[in-house]
Amino acid sequence: MSELVRLSFSLDATLEAKLEELRTRRRYSNRSELLRDLIRDQLVEEVWEEDREAVGTVTLVFDHHAHGLHEKLTDLQHEHHDVILATTHVHLDHHLCAEVILCRGRSSLIRSIADQLRQQKGVLHGSLSVSSTGAELR
Ligand code: NI
Repeated sequence: MSELVRLSFSLDATLEAKLEELRTRRRYSNRSELLRDLIRDQLVEEVWEEDREAVGTVTLVFDHHAHGLHEKLTDLQHEHHDVILATTHVHLDHHLCAEVILCRGRSSLIRSIADQLRQQKGVLHGSLSVSSTGAELR
């Protein structure tokens, strides 16, 4: 980590109150840590907007009895073996499974893989969590 720099800046009172509400709601012990995370979130958002190398996690919940679904999901993951770093499969109950698929690659490709996976018949829910390789956060 580089050296700490102390900043001083002005906010109008309404915005300052909203910042304080946000800090309380998100349970940050101080504003500095909240502001650091907000800046990092913005930097990660830019990575995804600019189609740079990113890290993303796809979560799927699906019915493992759905005809051919398991094979289709596995086929799609093999097609993108260069992007998919790891997959964890858990059995939620007698019928339902969850998979968490960790990806690293161009953000547009990760988004496309997530869309293809979640659109398969029998997938009850799919979500994409966006993050970063960390390169732009240091
Ligand atoms: Ni299962």
